[in-house]
Amino acid sequence: MDRGNIGVLPRPTKLADESYLEFVTSFRKFAIQKGFPVMAANGEAALGKSIEKGETPTPEEGEQLPLSDIKKVFAQVPFTPTWQRFVRSQQEMMWRGTRKSFVRGADKLMQDMADAEISHPDNIHYDSNFEPPKYTRCEIHCQPGGYTDDPLGGIVFHYGTKIFYEGFNDQDELHIELAEKATKPEDGKIEQILDVGCSIGQCTTHLKTLYPQAEIWGLDVGLPLIRYGHMRAVQHGKDVHFKQALAEDSGFADGQFDMILAYILFHEVPVAKMKEILAEMFRVLRPGGKFSIFEFPNNDDGQVPPGYRFMIDNDSRDNCEPYSPAFVASDFKGILEQTGFIVEDGPKSSNEFLQSLIATKPA
Ligand SMILES: C[S@@+](CC[C@H](N)C(=O)[O-])C[C@H]1O[C@@H](n2cnc3c(N)ncnc32)[C@H](O)[C@@H]1O
Repeated sequence: MDRGNIGVLPRPTKLADESYLEFVTSFRKFAIQKGFPVMAANGEAALGKSIEKGETPTPEEGEQLPLSDIKKVFAQVPFTPTWQRFVRSQQEMMWRGTRKSFVRGADKLMQDMADAEISHPDNIHYDSNFEPPKYTRCEIHCQPGGYTDDPLGGIVFHYGTKIFYEGFNDQDELHIELAEKATKPEDGKIEQILDVGCSIGQCTTHLKTLYPQAEIWGLDVGLPLIRYGHMRAVQHGKDVHFKQALAEDSGFADGQFDMILAYILFHEVPVAKMKEILAEMFRVLRPGGKFSIFEFPNNDDGQVPPGYRFMIDNDSRDNCEPYSPAFVASDFKGILEQTGFIVEDGPKSSNEFLQSLIATKPA
């Protein structure tokens, strides 16, 4: 059943599903906004007492507490397992409920995506023989089929992340903001822009609104995502290109892009792949080009509080984020510099959790 859209967001196929998913959104909001601060504060208070009593060794000056000590103490606080259960349950409810609803409209959606490919074949680029490597195929965030293996993955990602964003961003507000905050090259030449790890192209299409004269590319390993993104762009009258490829082997020409944007890509790949992707982005950015990165914060200055470290570790196991702890622990800025970029802090977004970096390829 196609119940149309609210603005740019598709409606679930039954009113009962929409009501249920509204409840899941509120439940998530509760777990994140109310539950997390209480869990973190209780855990950190217990940790302080345990250090005072000498049960947990005081870290050396400039050193961080081992994660194992944080986990041991947090696990003894009664609210911690309750919070962990809330977080896991809302995640399962969000994906299962979303997919169950949109599977009812699957035939029409598959037809709409195929029609968009027939009407605008030059804007979508993929090779049917391409096999995404295993590391990209895990079910990140517990999304069934992950980014690569569910033909309905695009719409499931779209509505599921509306819940993930706790209802905010149902009209792409965050993506519009990030596209606006992507840094322009100082010489003002903007002919080609890449949105790397673009998912369903919510930033990609808004880059076209901002830079109508430029050629805009969204690249992602997930074919279901780019097929859905392409269909949406066609429906919205946006002339953008979507390509299924690996960010570390993009197939673009040396120095092709004036600007590149990456929004929360790097914590979702192993550190070795992150290094390969940075080298590839350095190659395809032209001298003087700007690479804008909005990403999870790193732990490298030792300032990340124990509650956050506990949450990231919990998320990696309970929310299938296998690569994020290594990313958070990595010296991301240092690796960007080793790749050849000049790195500075970028404009913060309304999502204060994210770090913002601008990496410039020296002219
Ligand atoms: C958290 S999502 C990014 C969100 C997206 N930038 C947005 O605007 O909402 C991470 C994306 O990176 C993609 N990805 C992961 N590894 C990749 C790789 N090696 N090459 C290309 N895309 C990759 C995934 O398929 C997924 O769509």
